[in-house]
Amino acid sequence: MNPKIEQLRQLKKQAHEGGGEDRLAAQKAKGKLTARERIDILLDKGSFHEVDALVVHRETNFGMDKKKFMGDSVVTGWGTIDGRLVYVFSQDFTVFGGSLSGVHAEKICKIMDMAMRNGAPVVGINDSGGARIQEGVVSLAGYADVFLRNTLASGVVPQISVIMGPCAGGAVYSPALTDFIFMVKGSSHMFITGPDVVKTVTHQDVTFEELGGAMTHNVISGVAHMAAESEEDCLFLIRELMGYLPSNNMEDAPFRESNDDGLRADEALNSVVPENPNQAYDIKDVIRLIVDEGRFYEIQEHYAQNIVVGFARLGGHSIGIVANQPMVLAGVLDINASEKAARFVRFCDCFNIPLIVFEDVPGFLPGLDQEHGGIIRHGAKLLYAFCEATVPKLTVITRKAYGGAYCVMNSKHIRSDFNVAWPTAEIAVMGPEGAVNIIYRREIAAADTPEAKRSELVHEYREHLANPYIAAQRGYIDDVIEPSETRPRLINALNMLQNKRDQNPPKKHGNIPL
Ligand code: HXC
Repeated sequence: MNPKIEQLRQLKKQAHEGGGEDRLAAQKAKGKLTARERIDILLDKGSFHEVDALVVHRETNFGMDKKKFMGDSVVTGWGTIDGRLVYVFSQDFTVFGGSLSGVHAEKICKIMDMAMRNGAPVVGINDSGGARIQEGVVSLAGYADVFLRNTLASGVVPQISVIMGPCAGGAVYSPALTDFIFMVKGSSHMFITGPDVVKTVTHQDVTFEELGGAMTHNVISGVAHMAAESEEDCLFLIRELMGYLPSNNMEDAPFRESNDDGLRADEALNSVVPENPNQAYDIKDVIRLIVDEGRFYEIQEHYAQNIVVGFARLGGHSIGIVANQPMVLAGVLDINASEKAARFVRFCDCFNIPLIVFEDVPGFLPGLDQEHGGIIRHGAKLLYAFCEATVPKLTVITRKAYGGAYCVMNSKHIRSDFNVAWPTAEIAVMGPEGAVNIIYRREIAAADTPEAKRSELVHEYREHLANPYIAAQRGYIDDVIEPSETRPRLINALNMLQNKRDQNPPKKHGNIPL
């Protein structure tokens, strides 16, 4: 064979071997896939095109000049998911623990720049010991270069982070700047400082899992958006997510012909809301009865469960759903729910994905904790997000729409395009009990039988104010509809809004209450 070709083949083979057989075996022994296997599962078969497989680090201190690996500690390139272009980087733990060297950062930056120029998403698979200790500030500079690109790409191309091993120290801020963070139960960890430092500083004993495991970030901190059972599941979930997203902010969200009849009316919806307004029902049952093929791709399923967000399709259109969940805290808006929903609304607005709101909200959660935690500021984020969104916006009020929460949850007044209510809707400043106690305090106290008087007044209030018809009379909602008609009515409205063009006043950027 031509020796030059032989040399090239050798170099490519070395790149494929990463940190060598032993380290690859160690990776497998931990139940983890290798950097390349992960890419192969993520992308369409045979679609991966690698770049920079021949890059090596430039460090000479600490004997590093004798330890060089083709491609260094990250595999980068592009390929397709369901035929659509995606850029990917996958950190290789078998090379210096996947740590980020100067050239590792350069490789990531190169594909991020290409993604920005060519308008395609970036998926980053993280499995790294953090900054390459031997390279010192060069490594820190590399991180900062990546952070800048994450920020500039935000709202231009979707960015997905996958954590499939350690992600520690300042390294967590690259995923944190991206749109969605996927973690794998049992094997991925994210934290600013590890258990040892926590012990030294705070004297607390914590495990890796408690501090930064998949469920910690999916249930408690809200840092992560998805928790997968295995690495394979995780990669399949990302492939599915991509189907709902446009490749960049200049494209419409993808349309996929559906076999589910757009005119399908579901009678089950007519009885889903219980007679008793204090009784709960599962809003996810409502969503599944309405969307195409009952498929709802939920985001942050385990966090702030009093609000439900996620993607689905309606009449083939990709949509983002925000729904109060009466099953959890009666669907009240609190700090965590407001932040969770606000971020989701802004993502959908960045990427031209219409928003559909299902509203059953008794108001904002009262209490010292919430006030001291800044519910005013955090609740304002959701209000801000809905107000600034210019994508098609639709709202279905299934039951309660009380107080400030009525305004916040995509009301007509904040530029929603199509608002309807079910006959079970109660749209008012507050619920009957609270309202009667305030406006009839004296009458109730003066009555011979205060309790009887109170229930009479509650009944009266409910009859007069806790219904959808006052809002309908004023045009604050566009119609009161039978619940069974919801699917065809929403699909019709989405089609009507296909060419919607709306914009905010020119400005550098707004000042969302962070
Ligand atoms: C260079 C590293 C490294 C690093 C690991 N290695 N981390 N090399 N820089 N940061 C190397 C190890 O020397 C070892 O090399 C190989 O990777 C595998 O590491 P092990 O320790 O054997 O693996 P394991 O037992 O699985 O432990 C993984 C680990 C641990 C938990 C990640 O390696 C670790 O604690 N590393 C240091 C983490 C850290 O403190 N990073 C800096 C964080 S601060 P050999 O040759 O033996 O295979 C930070 C700042 C970012 O990142 C700032 C951004 C602004």
